[in-house]
Amino acid sequence: SDYTPSNPGSVKVHYLRISVTDRCNERCIYCFPQDLGFLSKKGDQLSFEEMHAVVIHGAIKHGFRDFRITGGEPLVRKGTLPFIQRLTRTEGVSSVRLSTNGTLLGSYARELKEAQIAGINVSLDTLDPSLYKKITGGDIEPVLEGIEECRKVGIKPIKLNTVLLRGINEDEILSLIDYAAERNLVIRFIELMPLSYTGKISRANFLSVYELKRRLEKLDTLEPLDTRLGQGPAKYFRMHSRNAIVGFIGALSDFHFCDNCNKMRLTSDGFIRPCLGNHLEIDIKGVLRPSPDPSGLYKVFESALQKKPPEHSFRETYQPGRAMTAIGG
Ligand code: GTP
Ligand code: 5AD
Ligand code: SF4
Repeated sequence: SDYTPSNPGSVKVHYLRISVTDRCNERCIYCFPQDLGFLSKKGDQLSFEEMHAVVIHGAIKHGFRDFRITGGEPLVRKGTLPFIQRLTRTEGVSSVRLSTNGTLLGSYARELKEAQIAGINVSLDTLDPSLYKKITGGDIEPVLEGIEECRKVGIKPIKLNTVLLRGINEDEILSLIDYAAERNLVIRFIELMPLSYTGKISRANFLSVYELKRRLEKLDTLEPLDTRLGQGPAKYFRMHSRNAIVGFIGALSDFHFCDNCNKMRLTSDGFIRPCLGNHLEIDIKGVLRPSPDPSGLYKVFESALQKKPPEHSFRETYQPGRAMTAIGG
């Protein structure tokens, strides 16, 4: 179908983020919820067969072409790699990408490359091992090794995701930019979004991309890039003297953030979520079980597309609901 959402940009929705699990082997202070009860029960979890049915009968039939695999941490679920391999070979699929915390990339890089992954986004909020531990609960070494392995096997592009945390990783920003530039990686700075109640950070830790941009402009010229890098909402700039490409994901401070939104999300427990920043979800298990119903899936997707809000509701205060770990960003 040729459905276009009601947002000002009137952009075609063609990009599905599939969260294959809400489990994670890290515990990021801005993501992992305090209340573990949010994690979906085993029986609710979609099988990869069911997810593939959603892709074929729901997404592709509505013109979706681009897919991103997210989590939790997608690589902790057994079967994620075969699912990616199957997806990239599915007719109608143009690209499959992966968002990961990087901890398990070392052992998957080669196979991901062979599966023709169209790019990998890796979370990296600091280069300092002890701060990394403080932010994620985990160890930085495997992540850096995983990034090197992806470079070695030739995965392109590799993008870094850094969540801006005032008072926590502000002093890491320039080293991260240089780390990325030296390796020809793109780095994006992300505004903290109020989605998970973790009990470990507060509103005081919010740092806007506008403020960061002003700080960087004191050091260097930032030239806007008009080429699109990927399918997401980041706005990119070239930093001249550092020879770096820096992206900004200003979900809260950028007033036009949602104008070109081209995506929907599928959660691992079988809901379509038309917008990250809006708790409206549509249960699709009714048209998946006991066995996938192609025309039912088509119709549920249609109604989800119609319900896609013109913009998110993050600017209001924190609302309890599904946590970030269970949406996949
Ligand atoms: P590419 O630009 O194609 O590389 O993908 P991406 O940046 O959209 O994907 P990624 O999973 O790396 O997400 C980076 C950050 O952007 C995460 O914090 C996401 O939550 C955020 N993000 C991505 N899409 C949206 C969106 O539609 N709305 C909001 N509010 N945040 C988004
Ligand atoms: N605000 C902004 N970004 C977040 N991410 C996880 N939680 C949040 C949050 N509360 C990011 C991760 C990862 C991406 C998929 O989402 O850092 O890079
Ligand atoms: Fe896990 Fe990613 Fe959330 Fe960190 S941001 S807890 S790595 S899902």
